Amino acid sequence: MSNATLLLEGKEYALPVIAGVEKEIAIDISSLRAKSGAVTYDPGYGNTGSCSSAITFIDGERGILRYRGYPIEQIAEKASFVEVAYLLVYGELPTKVELATFSLNLTRHTLLQEDMKKFFEGFPNSAHPMGILSAMAASLSTYYPDTEKREPNIIRLLAKLPTIAAFSYKKSIGQPFIYPRNDLTYTQNFLQMMFAVPCEPYVVNETVDRVLNLLLILHADHEQNCSTSTVRMVGSSGANLFSAISAGISALWGPLHGGANQEVLEMLQNIRSEGGDVRKFVQMAKDKSSKFKLMGFGHRVYKNFDPRASILKKAADDVLASLHVSDPLLSIARELEDIALHDSYFMERKLYPNVDFYSGIIYRAIGIPTEMFTVMFALGRAPGWIAQWKEMVDDPTTRINRPRQIYTGARERAFVPIGERERTLVTA
Ligand code: SDX
Repeated sequence: MSNATLLLEGKEYALPVIAGVEKEIAIDISSLRAKSGAVTYDPGYGNTGSCSSAITFIDGERGILRYRGYPIEQIAEKASFVEVAYLLVYGELPTKVELATFSLNLTRHTLLQEDMKKFFEGFPNSAHPMGILSAMAASLSTYYPDTEKREPNIIRLLAKLPTIAAFSYKKSIGQPFIYPRNDLTYTQNFLQMMFAVPCEPYVVNETVDRVLNLLLILHADHEQNCSTSTVRMVGSSGANLFSAISAGISALWGPLHGGANQEVLEMLQNIRSEGGDVRKFVQMAKDKSSKFKLMGFGHRVYKNFDPRASILKKAADDVLASLHVSDPLLSIARELEDIALHDSYFMERKLYPNVDFYSGIIYRAIGIPTEMFTVMFALGRAPGWIAQWKEMVDDPTTRINRPRQIYTGARERAFVPIGERERTLVTA
């Protein structure tokens, strides 16, 4: 590739230009500070590539999302979530034998060490399940401290997160924990741990199982988003896999990121409880002084439609129809989308529905409580986080992530003894 030339304070610096397989280009500034003493400045990293990766490709302008080269539309239609987890972590779609072995390994590790159940006794019943999930994910490192056993720990994490999630839900409703079963698939097992009760047999609803697979697949990876970058940041110091994923869970919890799906449902419920005047809320979202945002709209990368939202928009209709559920919030969501997509404020800023806009409607239709929505996002994203962590750890060029800054604080000044620090109190 060619070079980019930076002219800085009268001097020219040649910076290599590198290209990805889809012809996206980047200016390699890894030598910039050594050559010029300057650093770049990009708060929020919207213009900064933090790594090279072969896992997921997104084209925000064309609404493209591919996992290891496979278009999300094909994967969503033809694969199971366990197949997608294998694809993301190991790089290829599994053969029949590989899939059977991987599935069996996951099944064999779904149990938590019995002592870990005691951890749940310390959480209040009102504990948000994301707080429990993050704490329990990190706690797994105390039971499996041998970080060299990377493959078993990858299996353990993927296998135990659904158990932890389901236990956190049972804890919140005061019901006994339901243990995993080895005769069920990954998603069927999660559903029975969530919804079975000891006093009656549980039968998995096929439609619910199919749409749960779809929801987890659509959330499985999304290149260097906030939570994945957090996993890479923590993992780059050599911290163990469980701690890195626990950090990713915490980052995902934020309402601007994975927490948005819960916020979308609460926004729709709020619109409904205030009489359903959707236009009023669109106006609020356009009014900067209101601080209100239309949750489920906008994306740092997709400046056109989010392909996952398109798939979920169709799935919402199918699922509610096959489950004979009519949800007034879906009608409000459709009206909100229609108004927003014809409003100049949203059009100018290319604010389209994102993956979180419809997922909450579907989670609600299959019986997942609102507080568990972001946990569902985390269960879906777990293979992506693991794949990205593994790619980073396997990369011999990986260095500890340590960004620079522009300092805006006080210039050098002499220490002031305590007796001389009186300040004129500003009276209100
Ligand atoms: C996810 O990165 C990923 O890949 C994330 C994700 C994944 O799979 O990992 O796709 C999952 O996190 C999806 C996003 C879920 N979050 C939400 O739905 C929360 C609502 N959306 C916004 O907070 C916002 O759109 C973000 C956080 C998603 C993106 O923020 P950006 O890229 O920093 O955009 P911005 O805040 O700079 O907004 C640009 C303009 C601003 O107005 P102006 O200053 O130009 O006048 O658009 C406005 C913003 O005020 N804007 C919104 C808005 N989102 C942006 N106005 C109203 N409602 C919104 N939702």
